[in-house]
Amino acid sequence: MVSTKTQIAGFAFDNCLMNAAGVACMTIEELEGVKNSAAGTFVTKTATLDFCQGNPEPRYQDVPLGSINSMGLPNNGLDYYLDYLLDLQEKEPNRTFFLSLVGMSPEETHTILKKVQESEFKGLTELNLSCPNVPGKPQIAYDFETTDRILSEVFAYFTKPLGIKLPPYFDIVHFDQAAAIFNKYPLKFVNCVNSIGNGLYIEDESVVIRPKNGFGGIGGEYIKPTALANVHAFYQRLNPQIQIIGTGGVLTGRDAFEHILCGASMVQVGTTLHKEGVCAFDRITNELKAIMTEKGYENLEDFRGKLRYID
Ligand code: SIN
Repeated sequence: MVSTKTQIAGFAFDNCLMNAAGVACMTIEELEGVKNSAAGTFVTKTATLDFCQGNPEPRYQDVPLGSINSMGLPNNGLDYYLDYLLDLQEKEPNRTFFLSLVGMSPEETHTILKKVQESEFKGLTELNLSCPNVPGKPQIAYDFETTDRILSEVFAYFTKPLGIKLPPYFDIVHFDQAAAIFNKYPLKFVNCVNSIGNGLYIEDESVVIRPKNGFGGIGGEYIKPTALANVHAFYQRLNPQIQIIGTGGVLTGRDAFEHILCGASMVQVGTTLHKEGVCAFDRITNELKAIMTEKGYENLEDFRGKLRYID
């Protein structure tokens, strides 16, 4: 029997596929849709402390090879997601879910994380260090000094399982420097990658999204090679206790297979989920299982991280 079961931080999941934060996760209705699909779990929209309107529309556009977005972290505020998750963990104690969050400032990030720490939340927390879309706010994880400082401050009080969502890196030295920082902390996972920040998509003579004169994060087919490179670079460099979630360019079971081959323990679907809806989880799972069957693999551990090199 071929299985796509996985585990992150000791929590078991029936399927290694889930949504990427930002897609199908703003409202409880959307989260329920992912929860009740073939996905193994869900992650919430990145929560800030309070409700956030985000950037003006149009701010998300599907395009032939992927998507471009400049959402600007619209969300219903921490309490909306936390209350739902606390309720859910009573109703479905055998399942584990992810809460994504970040503050609009380091101070706000600490306020949010302290609330989560003090709450009864038993799931996984994903600290988003990579949103490229809030005007005037840089992608945190491109600033190694700030990232190091935030993590050292966070782990002084946060004892629940925590991972970080990363932007793509493009230089081997940056993989080395980033991994050296992450290896100092008891992180449970890193999620590679968020969108490739600040691309431009043009139709006729115009940009297609309003915020930032059309600059936005690129997802979908465009980004798979970059996503795979980041998954594998961190798989090679991080302490084995820090697992990898692979995100970026997952359209098919073959794409998910490649993320796992590069070292991912969980695979997130963003642009494809936006284009196709939650039935994408069924299709991609079946395609992944068909590849595993053909190759004689029974579970993810049979091939996870076993990317072959040319001598
Ligand atoms: C956004 O809300 O702008 C997208 C979220 C992200 O890229 O982290």
